[in-house]
Amino acid sequence: MALMTTKEMLLKAQREGYAVGAFNAENMEMVQAVIEAAEEMKAPVIIQTTPGTLNYADPEMFYGMCAAAAQKVSVPVALHLDHGNSFEMAARALKAGYTSVMIDGSKEEFETNVTLSRRVAEMAHAMGIPVEGELGTVGGKEDNHEVKDSEKAYTDPEQAGEFAERTGVDSLAVGIGNAHGFYKGDPKLRFDILEETRKRVSIPIVLHGASGIPDEDVKRATGLGICKVNFATELRDAFSKGVKAYLKENPDTYDPKKYGAAGREAVKKLVLHKLEVLNCQGREG
Ligand code: 13P
Repeated sequence: MALMTTKEMLLKAQREGYAVGAFNAENMEMVQAVIEAAEEMKAPVIIQTTPGTLNYADPEMFYGMCAAAAQKVSVPVALHLDHGNSFEMAARALKAGYTSVMIDGSKEEFETNVTLSRRVAEMAHAMGIPVEGELGTVGGKEDNHEVKDSEKAYTDPEQAGEFAERTGVDSLAVGIGNAHGFYKGDPKLRFDILEETRKRVSIPIVLHGASGIPDEDVKRATGLGICKVNFATELRDAFSKGVKAYLKENPDTYDPKKYGAAGREAVKKLVLHKLEVLNCQGREG
């Protein structure tokens, strides 16, 4: 199938009470692993890349890989810009063919975030592409930016309603104690804030920083209205461990296809498990 947008994908998840997995890919093997896992589970799926990843390889490169891999499967696949950090970055992804973009103005003042998100939404909507905004901050290390304690903020449910209305974004990422990277100690999600936000916001809500959140908490968040769940660190970790284990066993290997395939298998196994947790298997139709 051709790449599709996240618009109907997330609305369907919202209607039916499951979440779509959004997986960060850093290379071709990770793209293949995610799409193969989704096809096996008959699940819709989102591949996403951060600006940091797009400094490593252009959006056109990721678009080419994802479009080619999506053509070979029957499940819906979307390609999303994760944590777009400027109007220009969003425009670059759209120009390359991305079928969904995020604009993250969450570290700005509320009014600045509203203005930036609305501008990106207007541009993307003119091309038929949906936009994810963020209100409240996700802690931890995001791309090359470490969110300091002083920058951490929970989503304000009242403001979230106003933000969704004034920006016209199609989905909203929330800060409910979630953080990027592995958690130091147990993550403590504020499900009460999620519930209050759900009451005031009608668009799909997104959970970032899902690596290290126990499966039961991810399921609970999904039950409370989360429709998209982002996983990055655990995939990077799985890929690297797969490669390292292969090289340890086969220290004389010099063919990247050999250890690349080991990394790919490790990512696929992880994604199969996450798709089950999100209850999105068999939801491709
Ligand atoms: P993790 O790296 O914690 O899985 O977070 C992923 C994410 O939210 C990407 O936006």
